[in-house]
Amino acid sequence: KKVTLKVPATIANLVCGFDILGMAINEPADDMEMRLLETPEIIIRHTDGFGLPEEPAENVAGVVLLKIMERLKLKHGFEVIIHKNIKPGSGLGSSAASAAGAALGAHLLLGNIFTREEMVYYAMFGEELASGARHADNIAPCIYGGITLVKSSEPVDIIPLNAPDLWVTAVHPQVEVKTSDAREILRKNILLKDAIQQWGNIAGLVAGIQNNDHALIGRSLNDVIIEPVRSILIPKFDHIKRESLEAGALGGGISGSGPSVFMFSEEEETSRTIAGIMKSAYDSTGIESLVYVSKVN
Ligand code: HSE
Repeated sequence: KKVTLKVPATIANLVCGFDILGMAINEPADDMEMRLLETPEIIIRHTDGFGLPEEPAENVAGVVLLKIMERLKLKHGFEVIIHKNIKPGSGLGSSAASAAGAALGAHLLLGNIFTREEMVYYAMFGEELASGARHADNIAPCIYGGITLVKSSEPVDIIPLNAPDLWVTAVHPQVEVKTSDAREILRKNILLKDAIQQWGNIAGLVAGIQNNDHALIGRSLNDVIIEPVRSILIPKFDHIKRESLEAGALGGGISGSGPSVFMFSEEEETSRTIAGIMKSAYDSTGIESLVYVSKVN
């Protein structure tokens, strides 16, 4: 028995919703192939050349499957072949894709045994290995599709939201920002006045998404807590944001913990103009970058 999966990239946080909002997009996406083995072992193979660890206990898909085998006392094992198109460390949910793909693949191979919440639960073990935190904001949209709200991760309580008809432009500059470092630098305490602004924006964003109100989505995409700290790690961030908004973007910001940056647009043409803005911003500084034009998936 074998399953093949296409596992999407995801954009976590959606600017103001740190650790609770996330969205699946259709480009880039990983390819995974999984098989049930007669023996209780895990074999992981990458065909992408990123040099990720293949030892099950050190691999994000591997730890998810180890946990599933342990909890279900399985006599079977799994073979997993992963071809990553989502670059590790991009801030586009590369680790989440492998973890979510492993949980979904096991679910399918074992006869549709899990709920979506259970798949999120198991996949979070992969995120914990990758970043030290059990956050589900990339995992949930990977498994549910579209945009999801992680109302709580312990216990897992996911609210699928509507998928607005918007274009997404994302740029991945080739600079390294580790999720664990990007979490470490955040302030642990925030001011009540900042919190009020932030939850106003989150509530506005969720209402805008549910009502397909693009203008409300645009004016809610503001982050007064995380972005001011993290954007310092991303060259050209302010420039790209300003120029994209001038070119007609609805709004946007850091994708997950960075270094990727994303922008929403209503029209394909605007999203392609923004792709050009992003590319030339990095070309001018000699930083290599990859640009993706996509839709909410
Ligand atoms: N919500 C997480 C963060 C996503 O911003 O740290 C990281 O992938």
